[in-house]
Amino acid sequence: MSKPHYITTPIYYPNAEPHLGSSYTTTVADVLHRFKRLFGNESFFLTGTDEHGQKVADAAKARGLEPQQHVDELSRQFENVWKRLGIEPDIFMRTTYPFHIKGVQAALQKLWEKELIYKSEYEGWYSVSEEIFYTDKDLVDGKSPEGKPVTKVTETNYFFKMSQYQEKLIDYIHSHPDFILPVGKKAEVLGFLKQPLTDLCISRPKSRFTWGIELPFDKDYVCYVWFDALLNYVTALGYEVAGDDGSRMKKFWPAVTHIIGKDILTTHTVYWTTMLMALELPLPNHVFAHGWWLNTSGKKMSKSEGETQNPLELLEILGVDSLRYALVRMMRFGQDASFSLHSAKELLNEELANTYGNLVSRATNLIAQNFEGQAPEMTQNESGTKEIIEAGKALPAKIEARINAFEPDLAIQDIYAYLAEVNRYITSAAPWKTLKEGETGRKKAGETLAVVLEALRISSILLQPVMPEKTKEVLAALGNPGNSLVWGQAEKPSPIGKAPPLFPKFVSEEKKLGNQ
Ligand code: MSP
Repeated sequence: MSKPHYITTPIYYPNAEPHLGSSYTTTVADVLHRFKRLFGNESFFLTGTDEHGQKVADAAKARGLEPQQHVDELSRQFENVWKRLGIEPDIFMRTTYPFHIKGVQAALQKLWEKELIYKSEYEGWYSVSEEIFYTDKDLVDGKSPEGKPVTKVTETNYFFKMSQYQEKLIDYIHSHPDFILPVGKKAEVLGFLKQPLTDLCISRPKSRFTWGIELPFDKDYVCYVWFDALLNYVTALGYEVAGDDGSRMKKFWPAVTHIIGKDILTTHTVYWTTMLMALELPLPNHVFAHGWWLNTSGKKMSKSEGETQNPLELLEILGVDSLRYALVRMMRFGQDASFSLHSAKELLNEELANTYGNLVSRATNLIAQNFEGQAPEMTQNESGTKEIIEAGKALPAKIEARINAFEPDLAIQDIYAYLAEVNRYITSAAPWKTLKEGETGRKKAGETLAVVLEALRISSILLQPVMPEKTKEVLAALGNPGNSLVWGQAEKPSPIGKAPPLFPKFVSEEKKLGNQ
């Protein structure tokens, strides 16, 4: 049944170029979104850039540019990198878009009129790199809990009455077991909520800092960057946007899954949710916090530490679809994982070159050479055939269940496991041998190949969300047999020719060194 679904990535700070971490989040969200569509749902996919705040203003200053000029350049870079990674959002949000700015001001005005915002003296600590306020007791050894430097701030500011929603939020989390995912993260948020929730400082005086959205009720202040950024998820759907007919909001909110890294769990499950409560909007269906890509020394890869794998370099080496496959497949969604080019190559060699690509080339070559490119008839008489057919029939539902359970890596693993099984099947049925055994042998080989073709067709359609380009090539090599996920429902394909080489084998750096 078709269900509308809305999927978002964090909107990234354009203080530096995209790196492996943001590339991962955006790729995995694109893959989930494409799977939703493949299974017949209407899906709306958002990514974008979070352009206000001190961190971005500092980055602009360091380049000697006006903030607007800096974010225009950097957000274009994000858009371009995503394009090259095969990512196709329905909307690329920018918090400097005038409709977003107006939407944020309208939301602020609403909360002001409801007396959910008040003015008071602020004394505390600010972490620019996280754009987060901390109190004395939050600090660990004079730094933020994440180990980031903080600076003392004493000034008059505006506050959102976040504290009054504490109990309501705790109840909500308890009564919606799949709101915060994976389950371990729910305990983390509930742990955080054991401490009394403070009110949220949502302004910065312009005397000190101007790169933000002006408060509608006090032109001497700009809005705190997280308050501005989180609202993008609804302004993108037309919330508080003049002239909007409300239809997108009605259709997609709150059918949303916010895909985020675990570093921004509190902002999404505490700040955002209480903001929504105050605005009387329903809370998101799911917030899924994935783990971190770690570097070889087991630390989070980050741009500030300069160790990040550059996604464009990886793209050059691996090609777009192989990179997408490796990124999604190599991280158990929700846990940490380490990334190395060497392990990516090993995985791709085994799963794409030796298994998937090999199967396509074996099957299409034999059909092109021995059956004049026509897919033979399928029967179920051979040993092993029935199992392959049954597993092939069950595969689409199995994958859909994986996607609904937020297991994109396991979905790929299941498809690979099936392809490996089909590869073993063709090896043991050895049609290249039986072809030489007269008319009966030829018939048997034809039957084997027909089953393999159908298995490849179903698997390739299921791999489309992960590898949109390569699967197009595979399906073309199979004679474009249509897009039905029902076993045996192939459209009559055009003649099958010898497939071009699809997945190259990578030489790993370690082997190269070993050969010297
Ligand atoms: N601008 C805020 C988000 C606002 S959303 C309303 C922000 N931006 S960010 O540029 O710092 O991006 C953080 C996100 O980048 C993480 O949540 C995660 O999605 C991704 N990653 C950054 N480093 C990462 C790893 N090392 N590993 C995996 N993903 C990581 O926070």
